[in-house]
Amino acid sequence: MTSRFDSPRAIITGGGCRLHAAELLFSMQAHRTLVVVDPFFATADFVDEIGSALNRQGIATDTFSNFQPDPTDQNVSDGAAAFSRLDADSIVAIGGGSALDVAKMIGAAAANPGPIAQFQGYHKISKPGPPLVAVPTTAGTGSEATKVAVITDTARNVKMMILDAKLMPTAAIVDYELTFSMPKPLTAHVGVDALTHGIEAYVSRKANPLTDPVAL
Ligand SMILES: NC(=O)c1ccc[n+]([C@@H]2O[C@H](COP(=O)([O-])OP(=O)(O)OC[C@H]3O[C@@H](n4cnc5c(N)ncnc54)[C@H](O)[C@@H]3O)[C@@H](O)[C@H]2O)c1
Repeated sequence: MTSRFDSPRAIITGGGCRLHAAELLFSMQAHRTLVVVDPFFATADFVDEIGSALNRQGIATDTFSNFQPDPTDQNVSDGAAAFSRLDADSIVAIGGGSALDVAKMIGAAAANPGPIAQFQGYHKISKPGPPLVAVPTTAGTGSEATKVAVITDTARNVKMMILDAKLMPTAAIVDYELTFSMPKPLTAHVGVDALTHGIEAYVSRKANPLTDPVAL
Protein backbone atom coordinates (compact mmCIF):
# COMPACT_ATOMS: atom_id res chain seq x y z
CA MET A 1 0.00 0.00 0.00
CA THR A 2 1.29 3.49 -0.79
CA SER A 3 1.25 6.08 1.95
CA ARG A 4 1.48 9.83 2.05
CA PHE A 5 2.43 12.35 4.72
CA ASP A 6 1.57 16.04 4.38
CA SER A 7 2.65 18.72 6.81
CA PRO A 8 3.33 22.46 6.96
CA ARG A 9 6.76 23.52 5.68
CA ALA A 10 7.68 24.70 9.17
CA ILE A 11 6.22 23.88 12.60
CA ILE A 12 7.49 26.19 15.35
CA THR A 13 6.68 25.13 18.91
CA GLY A 14 7.37 26.48 22.39
CA GLY A 15 6.15 29.02 24.93
CA GLY A 16 6.29 32.55 23.49
CA CYS A 17 6.90 31.45 19.89
CA ARG A 18 3.73 33.31 18.75
CA LEU A 19 5.84 36.39 18.09
CA HIS A 20 7.67 34.55 15.27
CA ALA A 21 4.58 34.97 13.06
CA ALA A 22 5.74 38.34 11.70
CA GLU A 23 9.22 37.19 10.69
CA LEU A 24 7.76 34.09 9.01
CA LEU A 25 5.41 36.21 6.89
CA PHE A 26 8.28 38.54 6.04
CA SER A 27 10.35 35.54 4.91
CA MET A 28 7.41 34.51 2.68
CA GLN A 29 7.66 37.90 0.97
CA ALA A 30 4.26 39.03 2.20
CA HIS A 31 3.26 42.61 1.36
CA ARG A 32 -0.33 42.70 2.60
CA THR A 33 -1.50 40.26 5.26
CA LEU A 34 -5.06 39.57 6.40
CA VAL A 35 -5.06 38.76 10.13
CA VAL A 36 -7.93 36.29 10.71
CA VAL A 37 -8.32 36.27 14.47
CA ASP A 38 -10.78 34.56 16.82
CA PRO A 39 -13.08 37.24 18.35
CA PHE A 40 -11.81 36.17 21.81
CA PHE A 41 -8.28 37.35 20.88
CA ALA A 42 -9.25 40.32 18.67
CA THR A 43 -7.97 42.84 21.24
CA ALA A 44 -5.11 40.72 22.64
CA ASP A 45 -1.75 42.47 23.09
CA PHE A 46 0.17 39.81 21.19
CA VAL A 47 -2.07 40.22 18.13
CA ASP A 48 -1.29 43.95 18.21
CA GLU A 49 2.40 43.12 18.53
CA ILE A 50 2.30 40.81 15.50
CA GLY A 51 0.48 43.53 13.51
CA SER A 52 2.99 46.20 14.56
CA ALA A 53 5.94 43.93 13.74
CA LEU A 54 4.45 43.33 10.27
CA ASN A 55 3.84 47.06 9.74
CA ARG A 56 7.45 47.85 10.77
CA GLN A 57 8.59 45.51 7.98
CA GLY A 58 6.42 47.47 5.52
CA ILE A 59 3.68 44.81 5.43
CA ALA A 60 0.15 46.29 5.42
CA THR A 61 -2.46 44.50 7.56
CA ASP A 62 -6.18 44.34 8.13
CA THR A 63 -8.08 42.26 10.67
CA PHE A 64 -11.05 39.93 10.15
CA SER A 65 -12.90 38.55 13.19
CA ASN A 66 -16.48 38.45 11.99
CA PHE A 67 -17.05 34.67 12.15
CA GLN A 68 -18.63 32.18 14.52
CA PRO A 69 -17.57 28.86 16.07
CA ASP A 70 -18.31 26.18 13.44
CA PRO A 71 -17.88 28.80 10.70
CA THR A 72 -20.25 29.15 7.77
CA ASP A 73 -19.96 29.73 4.03
CA GLN A 74 -21.18 33.30 4.70
CA ASN A 75 -18.27 33.81 7.15
CA VAL A 76 -15.88 32.64 4.41
CA SER A 77 -17.44 35.00 1.82
CA ASP A 78 -17.19 37.95 4.25
CA GLY A 79 -13.54 37.08 4.93
CA ALA A 80 -12.79 36.72 1.21
CA ALA A 81 -14.28 40.22 0.69
CA ALA A 82 -11.94 41.58 3.41
CA PHE A 83 -9.01 39.78 1.74
CA SER A 84 -9.91 41.35 -1.59
CA ARG A 85 -10.39 44.89 -0.10
CA LEU A 86 -6.83 44.72 1.25
CA ASP A 87 -5.63 43.16 -2.00
CA ALA A 88 -3.92 40.74 0.39
CA ASP A 89 -1.26 38.23 -0.59
CA SER A 90 -1.00 36.29 2.69
CA ILE A 91 -2.96 35.30 5.79
CA VAL A 92 -2.12 34.76 9.44
CA ALA A 93 -4.83 32.82 11.30
CA ILE A 94 -5.02 33.00 15.10
CA GLY A 95 -7.59 31.03 17.08
CA GLY A 96 -9.21 27.64 17.46
CA GLY A 97 -10.16 25.24 14.68
CA SER A 98 -12.93 27.61 13.60
CA ALA A 99 -10.54 30.52 12.97
CA LEU A 100 -8.02 28.30 11.21
CA ASP A 101 -10.66 26.65 9.02
CA VAL A 102 -12.30 29.92 8.00
CA ALA A 103 -8.84 31.33 7.15
CA LYS A 104 -7.97 28.29 5.02
CA MET A 105 -11.19 28.68 3.06
CA ILE A 106 -10.79 32.47 2.71
CA GLY A 107 -7.51 31.67 0.95
CA ALA A 108 -9.14 29.00 -1.23
CA ALA A 109 -12.08 31.28 -2.08
CA ALA A 110 -9.72 34.17 -2.97
CA ALA A 111 -7.96 31.95 -5.52
CA ASN A 112 -11.07 30.12 -6.82
CA PRO A 113 -14.23 32.23 -7.31
CA GLY A 114 -17.66 30.63 -6.95
CA PRO A 115 -19.80 29.10 -4.22
CA ILE A 116 -17.99 27.54 -1.25
CA ALA A 117 -20.10 24.36 -1.60
CA GLN A 118 -18.18 23.52 -4.81
CA PHE A 119 -15.21 22.52 -2.61
CA GLN A 120 -17.06 19.94 -0.48
CA GLY A 121 -15.41 16.53 -0.55
CA TYR A 122 -11.97 15.45 -1.67
CA HIS A 123 -9.49 17.42 -3.84
CA LYS A 124 -11.97 19.89 -5.33
CA ILE A 125 -9.77 23.00 -5.05
CA SER A 126 -8.09 23.91 -8.37
CA LYS A 127 -5.68 26.72 -7.48
CA PRO A 128 -3.69 27.01 -4.25
CA GLY A 129 -4.47 29.93 -1.94
CA PRO A 130 -1.92 32.42 -0.58
CA PRO A 131 0.68 31.55 2.10
CA LEU A 132 -1.01 30.90 5.44
CA VAL A 133 0.60 30.97 8.89
CA ALA A 134 -1.61 29.15 11.42
CA VAL A 135 -1.43 29.96 15.14
CA PRO A 136 -3.76 27.65 17.12
CA THR A 137 -5.18 28.69 20.51
CA THR A 138 -6.95 25.41 21.29
CA ALA A 139 -5.35 21.98 21.39
CA GLY A 140 -7.85 19.70 19.71
CA THR A 141 -8.42 19.98 16.00
CA GLY A 142 -4.83 20.00 14.76
CA SER A 143 -6.12 22.18 11.90
CA GLU A 144 -2.75 23.97 11.84
CA ALA A 145 -1.28 20.76 10.40
CA THR A 146 -4.19 19.22 8.46
CA LYS A 147 -5.39 19.56 4.89
CA VAL A 148 -9.01 19.79 6.06
CA ALA A 149 -11.51 22.56 6.69
CA VAL A 150 -15.02 22.14 8.10
CA ILE A 151 -17.49 24.80 6.94
CA THR A 152 -21.28 24.91 7.37
CA ASP A 153 -23.34 25.31 4.19
CA THR A 154 -26.12 27.57 5.45
CA ALA A 155 -28.48 26.84 2.52
CA ARG A 156 -28.49 23.07 3.20
CA ASN A 157 -27.63 23.28 6.94
CA VAL A 158 -24.81 20.77 6.36
CA LYS A 159 -21.32 20.76 7.86
CA MET A 160 -19.11 20.29 4.80
CA MET A 161 -15.83 18.39 5.08
CA ILE A 162 -13.36 19.85 2.61
CA LEU A 163 -10.12 17.92 2.15
CA ASP A 164 -7.38 19.04 -0.20
CA ALA A 165 -3.58 19.22 0.13
CA LYS A 166 -3.90 22.88 -0.96
CA LEU A 167 -5.47 23.57 2.46
CA MET A 168 -2.29 22.66 4.35
CA PRO A 169 -1.00 25.79 6.12
CA THR A 170 2.43 26.94 4.95
CA ALA A 171 3.65 27.17 8.55
CA ALA A 172 2.29 26.42 12.02
CA ILE A 173 3.21 28.27 15.20
CA VAL A 174 2.18 26.21 18.21
CA ASP A 175 2.51 28.23 21.41
CA TYR A 176 0.97 26.37 24.38
CA GLU A 177 0.70 29.62 26.37
CA LEU A 178 -2.21 30.63 24.10
CA THR A 179 -4.31 27.76 25.49
CA PHE A 180 -4.12 28.97 29.12
CA SER A 181 -7.14 31.23 28.73
CA MET A 182 -9.47 28.39 27.73
CA PRO A 183 -12.30 27.73 30.21
CA LYS A 184 -11.92 24.27 31.83
CA PRO A 185 -14.78 22.59 29.87
CA LEU A 186 -13.22 23.74 26.57
CA THR A 187 -9.80 22.42 27.68
CA ALA A 188 -11.46 19.06 28.42
CA HIS A 189 -13.38 18.96 25.13
CA VAL A 190 -10.39 19.78 22.94
CA GLY A 191 -8.25 17.33 24.95
CA VAL A 192 -10.66 14.51 24.09
CA ASP A 193 -10.58 15.70 20.45
CA ALA A 194 -6.75 15.46 20.41
CA LEU A 195 -6.77 12.05 22.15
CA THR A 196 -9.30 10.70 19.65
CA HIS A 197 -7.25 11.94 16.69
CA GLY A 198 -4.16 10.25 18.17
CA ILE A 199 -5.90 6.91 18.72
CA GLU A 200 -7.60 6.94 15.31
CA ALA A 201 -4.32 7.73 13.54
CA TYR A 202 -2.40 5.06 15.45
CA VAL A 203 -4.86 2.24 14.70
CA SER A 204 -5.64 3.40 11.14
CA ARG A 205 -4.85 1.08 8.23
CA LYS A 206 -3.16 4.13 6.69
CA ALA A 207 -0.75 4.53 9.65
CA ASN A 208 2.90 4.63 8.61
CA PRO A 209 6.31 5.21 10.25
CA LEU A 210 5.90 8.99 9.94
CA THR A 211 2.38 9.15 11.41
CA ASP A 212 3.00 6.78 14.35
CA PRO A 213 5.35 9.06 16.33
CA VAL A 214 3.00 12.00 15.85
CA ALA A 215 0.01 9.91 16.97
CA LEU A 216 1.88 8.68 20.04
N1 LIG B 1 -9.54 21.38 10.03
C1 LIG B 1 -9.49 20.30 10.76
O1 LIG B 1 -8.61 19.45 10.56
C2 LIG B 1 -10.51 20.09 11.86
C3 LIG B 1 -10.46 18.93 12.66
C4 LIG B 1 -11.43 18.78 13.65
C5 LIG B 1 -12.40 19.76 13.86
N2 LIG B 1 -12.43 20.88 13.07
C6 LIG B 1 -13.43 21.96 13.26
O2 LIG B 1 -12.89 22.90 14.19
C7 LIG B 1 -13.96 23.57 14.87
C8 LIG B 1 -13.78 23.48 16.36
O3 LIG B 1 -12.55 24.06 16.72
P1 LIG B 1 -12.11 24.18 18.26
O4 LIG B 1 -12.56 22.99 19.00
O5 LIG B 1 -10.68 24.54 18.25
O6 LIG B 1 -13.00 25.38 18.83
P2 LIG B 1 -13.42 26.79 18.17
O7 LIG B 1 -12.34 27.33 17.32
O8 LIG B 1 -14.79 26.63 17.57
O9 LIG B 1 -13.53 27.69 19.47
C9 LIG B 1 -14.54 27.41 20.45
C10 LIG B 1 -14.72 28.64 21.35
O10 LIG B 1 -13.55 28.83 22.13
C11 LIG B 1 -13.06 30.16 22.01
N3 LIG B 1 -11.60 30.07 22.16
C12 LIG B 1 -10.68 29.60 21.26
N4 LIG B 1 -9.45 29.59 21.80
C13 LIG B 1 -9.59 30.08 23.08
C14 LIG B 1 -8.67 30.33 24.14
N5 LIG B 1 -7.36 30.03 24.03
N6 LIG B 1 -9.14 30.88 25.28
C15 LIG B 1 -10.48 31.14 25.42
N7 LIG B 1 -11.40 30.91 24.46
C16 LIG B 1 -10.96 30.40 23.29
C17 LIG B 1 -13.57 30.63 20.67
O11 LIG B 1 -13.71 32.05 20.66
C18 LIG B 1 -14.92 29.93 20.58
O12 LIG B 1 -15.92 30.66 21.26
C19 LIG B 1 -15.24 22.87 14.42
O13 LIG B 1 -15.86 23.66 13.41
C20 LIG B 1 -14.75 21.54 13.86
O14 LIG B 1 -15.65 21.01 12.91
C21 LIG B 1 -11.48 21.06 12.09
